[in-house]
Amino acid sequence: MIEVDISNIWGEVSLPDLLAIEKEVFDAHMKLTDRNGEGNDFLGWLDLPVEEETEEIRRIRTAAKRIRETSDVFVVVGIGGSYLGPRAAIELLQGANRNFGKGKGDPAIFYAGNTLSTRAWHELTKLLEGKDFSLCLISKSGTTTEPAIATRALRFLLERKYGTEGAKKRIYAITDPVKGALRQMAEEEGWETFRIPQDVGGRYSVLTAVGLLPMAVAGIDPMEVMAGAVQAKADYDLRSFENPVWLYTATRNLLYRNGKAIELLASFEPGCKMLGAWWQQLFGESEGKDGKGIFPATAEFTADLHSLGQLVQQGSRNLFETMLRFDGPETPVLIGADYKNLDDLNYLQGKQLDFVDEQAYRGTLAAHADGGIPVITMEAGKLDAAKLGEVFYFFELSCAISAYILGVNPFNQPGVEDYKRNMFSLLGKPGYES
Ligand code: PA5
Repeated sequence: MIEVDISNIWGEVSLPDLLAIEKEVFDAHMKLTDRNGEGNDFLGWLDLPVEEETEEIRRIRTAAKRIRETSDVFVVVGIGGSYLGPRAAIELLQGANRNFGKGKGDPAIFYAGNTLSTRAWHELTKLLEGKDFSLCLISKSGTTTEPAIATRALRFLLERKYGTEGAKKRIYAITDPVKGALRQMAEEEGWETFRIPQDVGGRYSVLTAVGLLPMAVAGIDPMEVMAGAVQAKADYDLRSFENPVWLYTATRNLLYRNGKAIELLASFEPGCKMLGAWWQQLFGESEGKDGKGIFPATAEFTADLHSLGQLVQQGSRNLFETMLRFDGPETPVLIGADYKNLDDLNYLQGKQLDFVDEQAYRGTLAAHADGGIPVITMEAGKLDAAKLGEVFYFFELSCAISAYILGVNPFNQPGVEDYKRNMFSLLGKPGYES
């Protein structure tokens, strides 16, 4: 289980505060599992962890094998919840620079449809020159402008390269099982399709084909991810403060009530950057409504200690920190000796890099706690495929319970829909003129 430690928040919240909120956490958790809260038609994500390989997962494995054999590059097209999960998983396990030197057998994975930048488009098409590639089109609604434009353009590229029939074998669509433009297009064109169940929203979809197909193409076993999620579902169902999900959700809500309107998720792994982006979208879209919500911010330590660190240490006291850590890798790196010692580093010779990182963590934690920043720490343990499943489920459950405590519907996003509608209207999409 992920260990949540709240010993660095006692200056800000008290034990009686924690005990007083226990009933609210209990009620919110019950509302979720009894499926009688707001947005209860979007609770399909609770049923996604499965012990047995499903037909869908078997097809994901088969498609991934084919893609790995035939493609130098796999382009994942999607935005928001339809792309952040797989990218978070792949970069957390394999690093942000995983694409260097990749090709057939273990393709590079690029992302498109998450921007309208022309520069980004030119960069992508240059990267695809001379490469065999396949497409993963992800959109639940099938009408989101950014991925729809990228889909059209990439499809044309693919058809020019392989012909209409050849292109069909290289396109995989992940969308609503029955409706929407992408579903219709996929069926008419004969592309292989995977489902985003109707009762699963974008930001809760990482354990569907949305996350699992790109992960499988990257060589991450979907059933290992599932095993972690299944275990998490059992472990985090506990109805007491022995449940780390309860400690996390209770504490962040108490801190919010005390004026801490910003949560800074800080990690000591550069590979966590996209996990941070996924977490930010999950909590931001789920909680930020009705004039409420904790602003989810992210930082990467130690890099950001040399930028945001100053503000955290001595700036406005309106934030709390959640420090997320994983165990170091099994192969250690030792710091070497240099007889000249001009850099004064010989006092560290023979020490492991991970030991230095650990001291940076301890030093930061102590400094921030001394500086009046409440810090929740999370020790997530060994980083592997099963851990991905656990981490995703942990945060999804925390987010849903936390939003119910806050008194908002965790599963809608009326603000995002507003922007999408305005854009349709400004672009003159038929039916949206007013
Ligand atoms: O979490 C969500 O619901 C959103 O972020 C959506 O995933 C995002 O807007 C993309 O929508 P769609 O999958 O319909 O293209």
